[in-house]
Amino acid sequence: MSRAHPDRPLRVIQWTTGNIGRRSLHAIIGRDDMELVGVFAHGADKVGVDAAELSGWPEPTGVKATDDIEELVALKPDACCYNPLWPSIDELVRLLESGINVCSSAAWITGGKQTPADLDRIRKACETGGSTIFGSGAHPGMSNLVGMVLSGACERVDEIRITESVDCSTYESAGTQTAMGFSQDPETPGLAESVRKESEVFAESAAMMADAIGARLDRITFDVTFTAATGDSDLGFMQIPKGTVAGVHGYHRGWVGDRNVVSVGFNWIMGDQVTPPKPLEDGHVVQVFGLPNMRTVVHCLPPRDWTEPGFMGLGMIYTAMPVTNAVPAVVAAAPGIVTLADLPPITGRSAK
Ligand SMILES: NC(=O)c1ccc[n+]([C@@H]2O[C@H](COP(=O)([O-])OP(=O)(O)OC[C@H]3O[C@@H](n4cnc5c(N)ncnc54)[C@H](OP(=O)(O)O)[C@@H]3O)[C@@H](O)[C@H]2O)c1
Repeated sequence: MSRAHPDRPLRVIQWTTGNIGRRSLHAIIGRDDMELVGVFAHGADKVGVDAAELSGWPEPTGVKATDDIEELVALKPDACCYNPLWPSIDELVRLLESGINVCSSAAWITGGKQTPADLDRIRKACETGGSTIFGSGAHPGMSNLVGMVLSGACERVDEIRITESVDCSTYESAGTQTAMGFSQDPETPGLAESVRKESEVFAESAAMMADAIGARLDRITFDVTFTAATGDSDLGFMQIPKGTVAGVHGYHRGWVGDRNVVSVGFNWIMGDQVTPPKPLEDGHVVQVFGLPNMRTVVHCLPPRDWTEPGFMGLGMIYTAMPVTNAVPAVVAAAPGIVTLADLPPITGRSAK
């Protein structure tokens, strides 16, 4: 259904409207080359609510949110921007087998962390529907893309290393932050393994970068250092008591023999009662070691007309748009699993 690239706007559905989904929804409504045809709501309070209200768009769209996946499938959309808190293989399979291309920010880059059985289901659903699944975001996503592009300046690449180096206390998701170790006793048994699992999508992005530079990984490891808070912090949506984890510095590393060829990780703190092991750079630090060494830091900054209180929204837009902007390329791509290494450059749209 979706392969023939149409001379009409692409029919797009938005899956959930949380921090990231509502930014994606806002962008879809505003685009001439996309037509919003449906919205999925997880929360009962959002069912029946107009997309405009869910995204802060000034005029009603006439498109109301539903919690019925079959209603959305029946609309025969070309693509779905998929931004739920927890992804579901059943949902993905239903969308893909119905011919709906999926662009996801929800823990998907290559699908490598899925069980072989789940990955097989996804591949079969793509075959059945002639559809494509793609995952991106800010980190993983854009940060890896910048690393891959920079490596194009090198005669020899020894390592691509990407580090999200930020105070993430403006990302108000207590569930996510606790799962990443914050506010927990640093000596909690199994804490490092829990953080590894929770952040495993970074290992997928490391594998994607390795593949792009022609490195055949024989293993991926994870290492992490926890730093304890020197005092109490009240972040509003969660507390970080003195002595609990307030800094998390770790990497998923891909290896070829004893060479660490790709590393994707984080130097995160929450609150001001902590000294991270490495100074914060307030952005995505992208380093390519080789001949020559290349380095840049991607900062996400407010434009002059930014009116929202605080800057959290900027990070959410930065996360949403690499996914939403990819819709046309993903609709045009061959069926199956595609990554940033397969697609043409994903650009934004000129202001109207
Ligand atoms: N790659 C990156 O750079 C990056 C960065 C940050 C986040 N992410 C990922 O992007 C996704 C969305 O993040 P977010 O901050 O927007 O999340 P969020 O606002 O916390 O949640 C997104 C939506 O998920 C739905 N939801 C809530 N609880 C749920 C549950 N128990 N089961 C299923 N759905 C549930 C809700 O939908 P309704 O609104 O319909 O009620 C909620 O608004 C997450 O998977 C996150 O890990 C990626």
